[in-house]
Amino acid sequence: MVRLLDNESLERSSVVANRAMNRERGLTGSNGYGRELGIDVVDLITDRLARGGEPFHWLDLCCGTGTALLECARLVDDPGLRITGVDLVDFFAGPPHAGVEFVTGPVESFVPRRSFDLVTCVHGLHYVGDKLGVLARAASWLTADGVLVANLDLAAVVSAEGRPWGRRLTGPLRAAGFDYDSRRRRVRCVGRRQVDLPFHYLGADDQAGPNYTGQPAVNSHYADATRPVG
Ligand SMILES: C[S@@+](CC[C@H](N)C(=O)[O-])C[C@H]1O[C@@H](n2cnc3c(N)ncnc32)[C@H](O)[C@@H]1O
Repeated sequence: MVRLLDNESLERSSVVANRAMNRERGLTGSNGYGRELGIDVVDLITDRLARGGEPFHWLDLCCGTGTALLECARLVDDPGLRITGVDLVDFFAGPPHAGVEFVTGPVESFVPRRSFDLVTCVHGLHYVGDKLGVLARAASWLTADGVLVANLDLAAVVSAEGRPWGRRLTGPLRAAGFDYDSRRRRVRCVGRRQVDLPFHYLGADDQAGPNYTGQPAVNSHYADATRPVG
């Protein structure tokens, strides 16, 4: 029987605190945010800012050192760009840049004060307990045409017994407006939405072993919320 951890215990887990994980991805290059997310972040932002008027708000969940965010702020160099990075650990890189703020704490309890044009999570959900809950909340933080993109390994979203929900999850995800790219293990949605996935979070397993990135990761256990308990 797998011992499932609550959020507090998971945050203290050596798998989440793992020093070997890459927290310092830049924005561009073969291992950068652009490639991981499948979008040219600078182009997206400069195009929107060029339309004039409104500032562009980017929220990056599990941002690590925030290196990519600071790089983006320097490249775009426009006071209309506001970036928020959230991470459990305050290893944030410097020097600070106007328009970039870092928030230390778990994404599960992050409460935004505004909506965002872009919400990203690069290789962060692998360490989060309630991955589906975070995705659902993040989709509700988008502007009407905002974009959410995150790396998500569906092999890590499992039943109480530890079996991946697989297609029984991709169906509801699609119905809720998410596209899932199984080759790149990436989930995406466009436009704010209220998401209610039919899964009930049970807890996290930090002993699941390495995932496709080669690093030890966290399995998230869910029950089918449409089935009566007991
Ligand atoms: C593999 S690193 C990726 C960091 C960054 N996105 C990058 O690509 O450079 C995963 C990050 O997720 C953070 N993290 C893990 N669980 C978290 C949680 N529940 N809330 C916020 N951050 C979390 C870790 O502290 C770590 O910095």
